[in-house]
Amino acid sequence: MAGPSQRVPSPDMLAMAREAMARAYAPYSRFSVGAVVRGESGALFAGCNVENAAFPQGNCAEASAISALILAGERRIVEVLVMGKGPALVSPCGGCRQRLREFALDATPVHICDPDGLRRTVTLGELLPLSFGPANFSA
Ligand code: THU
Repeated sequence: MAGPSQRVPSPDMLAMAREAMARAYAPYSRFSVGAVVRGESGALFAGCNVENAAFPQGNCAEASAISALILAGERRIVEVLVMGKGPALVSPCGGCRQRLREFALDATPVHICDPDGLRRTVTLGELLPLSFGPANFSA
């Protein structure tokens, strides 16, 4: 496995999420989210939420981070970090769990963070059990 330990997020992963969160475009919800995904190569890709006056057209931070990873030519996600403020855990929304599932495994760690750091690490399989994925299309 490329990259550092996945049990806790690396300082650079946390720093990238903080920067991404600070750049979010969230004038409607005022809820900024930063996400970072680590590719198989070990490289990190950040994203932020981008809202829209036509509300359903907004993008989650995870979707932006996945786009950056794909644009860089990577196809596997080995670690995920999502960061937001507030008392409740900022856990990936249902749609983003499925988006992540396309490129990650059940065992892939998802670090749920706030700007102060890690709050909880779960696996994608815990967030999206019995998921439908690319393997459903293999013979
Ligand atoms: N949001 C994310 O970016 N990721 C999530 O997993 C949860 C929600 C964003 C979408 C919207 O811009 C704002 O948070 C409030 O829902």
